Amino acid sequence: MENTDMKTIQWFPGHMAKTRRAIAANLKLVDAVAEIIDARTPMSSRNPEIDSLVSKKPRIVLLNKCDLADSNATSAWINYFRNSGAAALAVDCKSGKGINKVIPTLKSTVLKDLIEKRQRSGMTGAPVRLMVVGIPNVGKSSLINRLAGSKRAKVEDRPGVTRTKQWVKLQDNNELLDMPGVLWPKFEDQSAAIRLAFTGAVSDDILDTETLAMKLLLFLAENYPQSLKDRYKIDIDSNDTGLILLEKVGKKRGMIVSGGEINTERAAITVLDEFRGGKLGKITLELPTDKEQ
Ligand code: G4P
Repeated sequence: MENTDMKTIQWFPGHMAKTRRAIAANLKLVDAVAEIIDARTPMSSRNPEIDSLVSKKPRIVLLNKCDLADSNATSAWINYFRNSGAAALAVDCKSGKGINKVIPTLKSTVLKDLIEKRQRSGMTGAPVRLMVVGIPNVGKSSLINRLAGSKRAKVEDRPGVTRTKQWVKLQDNNELLDMPGVLWPKFEDQSAAIRLAFTGAVSDDILDTETLAMKLLLFLAENYPQSLKDRYKIDIDSNDTGLILLEKVGKKRGMIVSGGEINTERAAITVLDEFRGGKLGKITLELPTDKEQ
């Protein structure tokens, strides 16, 4: 599959225009769009123009990596997306959880009218055609692999689809465009970019590692203090700065350099790696009720 690594994609205006055109062309071929986002950052991991890009198509929002997210927050987000008129589901492409609900949910919600229309006109067996869109690293390739499963036998090219684009047959005769729409992230929104860097979705050189870890520790101390205490066996004081928290972690982990100073860089790498790997527990970085979305 194409390389969707953020570090290798430069989102120049020309590339964004090309992406817009490609999405528009592909949309004509499908009945519905699966917009995949990261359940830990459901707002920050959306493309800033997603609503206008796919406004005319029935949509299911898939909150992926729900194994790493706070389940109460995920439920709140699912309600939020459903209230906005999309279907929404929590999925975990790593284990496959929720994947078998994607097509049935589409058919019973946003595609209900189309399915009924087809039934009335005797087209009951017509496939539902779906495409996947999302910013890099949210799990688009993993989702396509999960949906297609062992049935990943390619079907024929269709008119209007460039030669590299193929369809895969899913269960019940449904079809998936075997190439995700790779959308650009919210790089102009600094707080969104920082949340994406926390999860490792964008290259973390937008900030130096220690600053990033300090910001994450402050967020965790405020929102998930028990997770920090459990993982690092540290006390948290309400006046603790990010640096103090980082030093507490480094000290507990014995990350001391010669002269007795705490190696805050090693501590920062540890905190970020452990957060990304889910070792601090199930954590969501933003809620639908947060003011700044
Ligand atoms: P993309 O096509 O949107 O760019 O994303 P991709 O499927 O490549 O997934 C990006 C990373 O996220 C991969 O990890 C993938 O394993 C992981 N991932 C996808 N879905 C889930 C999920 O539901 N839960 C968890 N915990 N992780 C998920 P990687 O480290 O880049 O690769 P690898 O560890 O799979 O080798």
